Amino acid sequence: MQLSPFKLERYFAQYEFNVQYLLCSSDCESLSIGDLLALEPGAEEAFQRHWLGYTESQGSPSLRGEISRIYSSIRPEQVLVHSGAEEAIFLFMQATLQPGDHVIVHWPCYQSLSEVAKSLGARVSLWEARAENNWALDLDELNRLIRPETRAIVVNTPHNPTGYLMPQDDFTALNAMAQERNLLLFSDEVYRELEYDPADRLPAACDINATAISLGVMSKTYGLAGLRIGWIATQNSEVFQKMAALKDYTTICNSAPSEFLAELALRHREKLAARNLDIISDNLALLDTFFSRHARQFDWVRPKAGPIAFPRLLTGDIENFCDALIKATGVLLLPGTLYDHPGDHFRLGYARSNLPEALVRFDEFLQT
Ligand SMILES: Cc1ncc(COP(=O)(O)O)c(C=O)c1O
Repeated sequence: MQLSPFKLERYFAQYEFNVQYLLCSSDCESLSIGDLLALEPGAEEAFQRHWLGYTESQGSPSLRGEISRIYSSIRPEQVLVHSGAEEAIFLFMQATLQPGDHVIVHWPCYQSLSEVAKSLGARVSLWEARAENNWALDLDELNRLIRPETRAIVVNTPHNPTGYLMPQDDFTALNAMAQERNLLLFSDEVYRELEYDPADRLPAACDINATAISLGVMSKTYGLAGLRIGWIATQNSEVFQKMAALKDYTTICNSAPSEFLAELALRHREKLAARNLDIISDNLALLDTFFSRHARQFDWVRPKAGPIAFPRLLTGDIENFCDALIKATGVLLLPGTLYDHPGDHFRLGYARSNLPEALVRFDEFLQT
């Protein structure tokens, strides 16, 4: 397999740990191990005693049990735990795609969602979210993209990078279409539970579609990226078994301390999500003011869920703009060109608690 460099990750490798303000992070503000252990009496002592041997390859039964509670029809045995969502994406594609298969991918996208498929010799068609439609996806267009050799549809909602949350009817229709056409739906739901209005929350694909695969992770909604714990949930035993067998060649099993901490965090997942939604809500209020003041410079489509948006710079080249901003202020934005998107957009992340300070710097930069 020939994998092209992951443009976004290479960009982060250059900046993430040496700039002052990450104004484009895709995850939420994190916590310390101490903060997590303080969630439950006795957790600290139990963590000290936690055994550091190999763990069960599919994930510890109690962690899989806790994850299964996120869903309405998933049993613990239908959850496969991975090292982050990234490993699950990699193994899903390895398990299901052959050279010559066709895959339809919601685009722009987190690069691995299309790149891993391409590297395996699959043909990828992009199901494009367009700025002029406020990033909505068109199901008729999807229908036209389906070919006899189409094997899978990859969708991500709430979406990285646009923040798009699909309406319920569309999501139901998408799942019905995938089932009718006998296509696997890989549903990247890493931002689920970050809807600003809980009534907008979509069902998990694995709960309404017997062959779909739902992807979840500790990194985004719960702000615990350093645990490197992700999972798939699915009623599709064939895909599950293939992915489980492939995991023997990647990580074999997960980190024991991470599994302990992920399980603890998930017992309090509503509290963690609410904390991050509070940060998002405060920051969004500042962003609304910022973008209304700078309406001549930026086009702002306000998301309904998640910690990221994809505004457009109306004058100038986005790469030069981001470069000048970082040099002058230490504020990092992510040019849309890293998604191969041509439209002078940039990714903005607003679930970090130092956003107010970063926005003051950004504002000063625009005045100069
Ligand atoms: C949409 C999407 N899926 C998957 C991932 C991978 O998550 P992780 O880095 O926690 O494995 C990311 C990370 O940015 C993402 O944005």
